[in-house]
Amino acid sequence: MATPPTDVRVALLGAGTVGAQVVRLLAERADDLAARAGAPLRLVGIAVSDADKEREPWIPRDLLTTDAEGLVRRADVVVELIGGIDPPRALVHAALEAGASVVTGNKALLAAHGPELHDAAAAADVDLYYEAAVAGAIPIVYALRESLAGDTVTEVLGIVNGTTNYVLDEMVTNGLGFDDAVAQAQALGFAEADPTADVDGHDSAAKAALLASLAFHTRVPLETVPVEGIRSITAEEMTAAQDHGWALKLLAVARRTGSPEGISVRVGPTLVPADHPLASVRGAFNAVVVESEAAGRLMFYGQGAGGAPTASAVLSDLVAAAGHVVGGGRAPRESAYADLAPLPPERQKVTAWFDLDIEDRPGMLSMVAAVLARHGISIEAVRQAAHAEPTAYGDELYDVFDDAYDGASPARATAADRESTTLSITTHRTDEATLAACLAELAESDGVRAVLPVRRVEGV
Ligand code: HSE
Repeated sequence: MATPPTDVRVALLGAGTVGAQVVRLLAERADDLAARAGAPLRLVGIAVSDADKEREPWIPRDLLTTDAEGLVRRADVVVELIGGIDPPRALVHAALEAGASVVTGNKALLAAHGPELHDAAAAADVDLYYEAAVAGAIPIVYALRESLAGDTVTEVLGIVNGTTNYVLDEMVTNGLGFDDAVAQAQALGFAEADPTADVDGHDSAAKAALLASLAFHTRVPLETVPVEGIRSITAEEMTAAQDHGWALKLLAVARRTGSPEGISVRVGPTLVPADHPLASVRGAFNAVVVESEAAGRLMFYGQGAGGAPTASAVLSDLVAAAGHVVGGGRAPRESAYADLAPLPPERQKVTAWFDLDIEDRPGMLSMVAAVLARHGISIEAVRQAAHAEPTAYGDELYDVFDDAYDGASPARATAADRESTTLSITTHRTDEATLAACLAELAESDGVRAVLPVRRVEGV
């Protein structure tokens, strides 16, 4: 039997916000980490693009190198925290082929090239760990890959981008406009200088693809995940949603579907009831709710970004990979045996909530209901804005189909107010193509002035 190594050589690629915290914690927790891994973790080099740049005082300057390719060949475990596809893709391949295990926080790389990297890790008989790639400190990759390996996951709903959750929270809590909320997130260091990947949903989509792959034992190509970001959301819409008892969140949604059999994965602004666990996730926090057949509902909550929280996830993977270097064993291999088909966007099932700006005259409600019925869409609820002074009902909205509604119409204010009104409709589950056709017909219908906004609903 081979003699266990006296230490585990660790190469770090990237010394940004997370990398710098990994260096700090490796030094500060050296004894504990050595005890947990079975041998000391020895940092042998830190690859950076500019070795002369000013850095945190604890970064050992003598370990800095611009030769990342050379560095990965003299390590037992390579920690990739550069981000983006190139050069990390080539460097991770080089590390795996050289026999090093890899720990990465790179969701974009894994979502785009995960299968080839998993194959390369298997071929080299080394580990590929990526806890930090999804939801920062939250141990959701471990939970899906290992803790729930004996169960059947049916649904994953997640707030997996802290920047957008912060922006939406500021809009609804403090009435900030979108641009001001993004600027505030940048000033506080949550948002990137270029927040495009966050606000347009691409960061969440990469994480959704990874979560769905793990949850459903299926490779989920990133290009099969429809994405909508949060740029179109206004503070007014947020407030209206709140008044209707909803919270509007940017959600990653992944669901196993029965008929047709497959999986449905998407990212977009989504309404959840105000009493849903995800509704109370504030600020830059992340949360993931997992539904599984035997375990039932599980909720994971915590910091999804930031140096130290993300470094915690990196170090957990590092201890595991180093433990295998010392004592043998391997991380679980990619599990894609179920090979379920990702449903194309138009066949995904959704529950929708939308506003119709309509002329306020007799017959409009029945016309709208008839259009929905023609498309086979069942109505869960309809609310009509009364355009009235506060009434005896104490609310300017009333449920048209509410059992408690006694049939009396709240007092209307003026003739001008009567000219238009807003119907807010929540549907039962339908598919995207049917919903789109129905909304197109409604938009063309006599007396309908606008169909806006249209939002998907979860958790009802
Ligand atoms: N930019 C991401 C966020 C963290 O705001 O949550 C890294 O994926």
